[in-house]
Amino acid sequence: MFKSLDSKQMKKSLLAIGLGAALAFTGSIAQAGKYGIGDTATKDQIAGWDIDIRPDGKGLPAGEGTVEAGESLYEERCATCHGLFGEGEGRWPVLAGGEGTLTEERPTKTVGSYWPYASTLYDYIRRAMPFTAPRSLSDQQVYDITAYVLYLNEIIEEDFVLTKDSLASIEMPNQDNFFVDPRPDVKNVRCMKNCADPKKLKIAGTLRGITPVGHFVEGADAPAASHDAQMEQEQHKEKARKATLKGETLTSHGSAGAASLSEMALAGKATYEGACKVCHGSGLTGSPKVGDIDAWAGRIKQGMPILLDHAIKGFSGDTGVMPPKGGRVDLSDKQVEQAVSYMVESSQ
Ligand code: HEC
Ligand code: HEC
Repeated sequence: MFKSLDSKQMKKSLLAIGLGAALAFTGSIAQAGKYGIGDTATKDQIAGWDIDIRPDGKGLPAGEGTVEAGESLYEERCATCHGLFGEGEGRWPVLAGGEGTLTEERPTKTVGSYWPYASTLYDYIRRAMPFTAPRSLSDQQVYDITAYVLYLNEIIEEDFVLTKDSLASIEMPNQDNFFVDPRPDVKNVRCMKNCADPKKLKIAGTLRGITPVGHFVEGADAPAASHDAQMEQEQHKEKARKATLKGETLTSHGSAGAASLSEMALAGKATYEGACKVCHGSGLTGSPKVGDIDAWAGRIKQGMPILLDHAIKGFSGDTGVMPPKGGRVDLSDKQVEQAVSYMVESSQ
């Protein structure tokens, strides 16, 4: 059966199977033919996903980075959240410091104090940062910024040149505290009779909420089960409060009902959700919260041209710093205009 496939093809089809879970591809070439679903992953598609980097540096692209080049990039793309020295603005993650705190009741887990491998830093930044625009940095920029974050943690010197080889040779301070757990695996036996009544089972913990999201809301201590649900609830409460003040009753759930939005605003909803909500959904870093009529009234009075100018070029006002295009310089001016319309119309 395999005779009809040469070894290159076989490799490809095996890869397609391996990637199945992540890409929702449904299996091998043979299956694709039979059920008419799924495609063989192209080389480019595989390359787009295949970006993991191992502790020995395998997977790192070619390039070299310097602390000096990383400094300005970091200040531009990362410091609004992580602080100029990696100290973390507000309650955004701290990236530097914290050595020796791991055994304390409230350890400060940072790249320097906690992470076992430097390669993870390159992988993480390339994959996930900046938070609002993952994959927007070039491989070269990631090298520079990685060098700078390592420098902030006093792991490399100012003149260190970060390359594929030198990155893999870096020993992180906490590396030895990661080891293979020698305890045997245990697993539950499936219950087949006289089992507990599912209705009476109590869920003690859920996977959701491992990354605390409660800190997105000012004054909230406990992590919320779902960020979105929490935001919606907050916005609804706020609107309801204001509606009551004005003697109205609120019928639509959440912020302004879709029916009342202009075409321009509707077109901006997705951009808002992808690029602006991270701050404007909760009022983070002093941003005016969408749906908060008081916070927007004065701003809206300035008129659309000024609001748009501030959103596109960035703006430093009385309450905080609005980064150019919210940090998403890849957005067109038109997309930003649509998002601003959405925000304004949902806040008046
Ligand atoms: C808009 C805010 C924001 C910006 C800008 C941002 N980050 Fe982050 N960063 C986050 C958040 C939020 C997390 C935590 C994500 C999570 O836990 O799922 C994070 C996590 C990280 C972590 C992992 C921290 C840890 O110990 O787990 C690193 C490293 C990091 N960011 C680096 C960067 C770098 C480098 C840049 C600039 C290229 C950047 N970030 C820009 C918000 C931001
Ligand atoms: C990292 C957080 C952050 C992100 C992301 C963000 N903003 Fe802002 N934005 C702010 C802050 C903070 C202010 C308030 C600045 C001030 O008045 O001091 C603001 C203010 C604004 C204003 C009002 C400007 C004025 O003149 O009063 C507009 C409009 C705006 N943002 C649009 C956007 C749009 C559109 C996006 C997404 C493309 C976006 N913002 C993403 C933080 C953010």
